[in-house]
Amino acid sequence: MSITLIRPDDWHVHLRDNAMLHAVLPDTARRFARAIVMPNLKLPVRTTAEALSYRERILAARPMQSAFEPLMTLYLTDNTPIVEIERAKASGYVHAVKYYPAGATTHSDFGVTDIERCYDALAAMEALSLPLLVHGEVTDSAVDIFDREAVFIDRILQRIVARFPRLKIVLEHVTTRDGVEFVGAAPATIAATLTAHHLLLNRNAMFRGGLRPHAYCLPVLKRERHREALVAAAISGNPKFFLGTDSAPHARRTKEAACGCAGLYTAHAGIELYAEVFKEADALARLEGFASLHGPAFYGLAQNRARITLVEESWLVPPEIDLMPAGIADSLVPFRAGEYVGFRIAEAGA
Ligand code: DOR
Ligand code: ZN
Repeated sequence: MSITLIRPDDWHVHLRDNAMLHAVLPDTARRFARAIVMPNLKLPVRTTAEALSYRERILAARPMQSAFEPLMTLYLTDNTPIVEIERAKASGYVHAVKYYPAGATTHSDFGVTDIERCYDALAAMEALSLPLLVHGEVTDSAVDIFDREAVFIDRILQRIVARFPRLKIVLEHVTTRDGVEFVGAAPATIAATLTAHHLLLNRNAMFRGGLRPHAYCLPVLKRERHREALVAAAISGNPKFFLGTDSAPHARRTKEAACGCAGLYTAHAGIELYAEVFKEADALARLEGFASLHGPAFYGLAQNRARITLVEESWLVPPEIDLMPAGIADSLVPFRAGEYVGFRIAEAGA
């Protein structure tokens, strides 16, 4: 069995920088024509100048012959000035602004402490049609970690949507039925990305036979009834839902630690894993919309011209990926390490 699609894009990925960037970029570039690149570097990408120089480093790290196009983002802070939003839009290379609530996740210390401080920036984004990408979790430690997305929607997202009705917003890596229902009922300006791992796993995966750091990400995996709602949204054909892997590489030693980092590395099977989900749901015919059409339509970008063919054939994921060739004395444990993925790429156009 094989399926040919317009080459997909990844609307949410962490490519990191320097050695890690060189190690992981080929996996994304092999599968995806473009990707929305998250700005949460150790020193976050807060200005257009920083985004443009990060873009150059990504282009320089591309494999030979690769036409992969990084779509850059800015990291929103309490102090992002309107002029920076204007520069971002005018550059033609910055396609969105990412809102991390301060303290919500990896490298979010520079994030937003109170979204009302950003209202001028949001107004500028609304006027310029520059989307806001939201890490939708409250950071309030009084709120149970499994409820943080739903509470964020009630306390913060609803307010933003009401105040900025023309602002394009993507609820990134939506993980709950509440999130899916909110997005489904919201105006067409509101969309969501879905990761492969939240479509494939429920929270039991974190505790299968012991504590599993390689199944820990943020937002954290949720109950089975939420996973089912995510799959239903992904295969629905609704253009509000599209592919965003949230592939987030962390070296093995930083994951297998007393305080392990959040993030799963899925770029090595970034489209194949979604094919598994759609196949399992008997919805492979809807994969192309989700992976290749809905994202560009939302962002106002052209569809890709190249195609990619996936074959239903199992392959064994290596137990780890050595980072030494990239200059890091550690390894990366990929999603499904030592287990099988049910689809592989037969050919990938440039
Ligand atoms: O699991 C995650 N990892 N969630 C995030 O929001 C950030 C990401 C990362 O950068 O490692
Ligand atoms: Zn992310």
